[in-house]
Amino acid sequence: MSVLVLGADGYIGWSLLCRLALEVDEPIIAVDDLSKRERVACCGSDSAIPIESFDDRIELLRKTTGRGDIAGVVAGVEDCVEPLVRALKPRVIVNLAQIPSAPWSMMDVDRAKETIANNELGNVAVLFAMREHSPHTHLVKMGSMGEYAACGVPLGEGYVDAVLDGLPTSVPVPFPRAADDVYHITKINDSNFIAMGCRVWGLAATDVMQSIVYGTRTALWRQDARLATRFDCDPVFGSVLNRFVAQAICGAPLTVHAGGKATTGLISLYDSVSALVHWTQEPAAPGEHKVVNQATETRISVLEIAQLIQRIGAEQGLHVQLETGLDPRHEAERPCKAGPARTFKLRQSGIPTIELEQGVRYLMQDLLEHRERLGGARLLPEVDWKSGAPDEPTSSRTASRTPDIPQPRASLPG
Ligand SMILES: NC(=O)c1ccc[n+]([C@@H]2O[C@H](COP(=O)([O-])OP(=O)(O)OC[C@H]3O[C@@H](n4cnc5c(N)ncnc54)[C@H](O)[C@@H]3O)[C@@H](O)[C@H]2O)c1
Repeated sequence: MSVLVLGADGYIGWSLLCRLALEVDEPIIAVDDLSKRERVACCGSDSAIPIESFDDRIELLRKTTGRGDIAGVVAGVEDCVEPLVRALKPRVIVNLAQIPSAPWSMMDVDRAKETIANNELGNVAVLFAMREHSPHTHLVKMGSMGEYAACGVPLGEGYVDAVLDGLPTSVPVPFPRAADDVYHITKINDSNFIAMGCRVWGLAATDVMQSIVYGTRTALWRQDARLATRFDCDPVFGSVLNRFVAQAICGAPLTVHAGGKATTGLISLYDSVSALVHWTQEPAAPGEHKVVNQATETRISVLEIAQLIQRIGAEQGLHVQLETGLDPRHEAERPCKAGPARTFKLRQSGIPTIELEQGVRYLMQDLLEHRERLGGARLLPEVDWKSGAPDEPTSSRTASRTPDIPQPRASLPG
């Protein structure tokens, strides 16, 4: 048996690969098309933590762990998953190979189509490969907590008992899903395809509703800094907490959109990876679409995150300011808030997790070592949810204290 990791060169994928190398005995096949590196470069940015080439980091991982049974495959999921599943019949597939950016998906029609095609066709290709060649393989798929509809009640864990017009449903039904950007809609559609694969074909899948992930810490990076995972803090690929801490360190105001009333869930990278390793060892039953809400902080406002970083930054002598006027996602127009996420399965798993405040301290400490590489954090968002990206990036939108930082390119060359 073997483990197939799709998206293994990414932020979470590389961290997972390092942990699996330590924790599972089976051969591991690590797939990535390296497209994240290219997309980030197209935005005028780079990983803030330096990373080796995919081949070199795989070789280093093999040497460090003494595991000759880890293989790297540079290929797109759609191109390689059918032959790989046919040949290997893996025990588990972890699919992280997607374009994970809402701003990228809202830039223009080409990026929207690219996100839809990449994410949904890759997911569907995995499901059909399993149906054809290995129906007993367990799929662990990374979805998003942003799939759920914000409707003022707690976010159920996938399926809930519901009552309509006084009548209870005869079976648990999917919690409502709705999203306001193309990327998250691809995640909703992925979940629907996976549910179909489980119901109709009897596949076994764990569909992880992942909250925002933050942090840098992985299993092996203290042993060798070249085994660190990538870190993005630009406005297209940086997620909120990672970006805020990077902004705090480089002296740029934290970009708290629309006053920061929007709420989110959070989990540290280390904890997210611990949970993923756990799900790989706890297969869903045949025909089961097991949905897991993966957050340790189940509901926190963006303003609260910013204020926490302001406070911890002050302890480090950083004077952290907030910029609350930007609203590129038109969040002020969406008053309905999500409730806290139910996280029964994560808590039942007994995985030790880190407190948010401690996680932020670690992140700040780690990023201080790379402060000269945090330029992406100073860039302001260029993608507006209604009008997309401007043809020409406007230098006036760069934070006033950061004139020396290059602007993101709004579109791919050519
Ligand atoms: N990081 C977060 O906060 C977060 C939150 C919720 C959900 N997720 C989900 O977790 C998964 C991993 O996220 P991440 O932050 O590590 O993203 P990432 O972009 O760093 O990693 C994804 C990796 O997949 C690769 N990839 C993309 N499309 C591919 C394809 N078709 N074939 C082969 N490789 C491909 C990319 O090159 C990249 O290395 C994604 O599905 C994302 O939607 C992430």
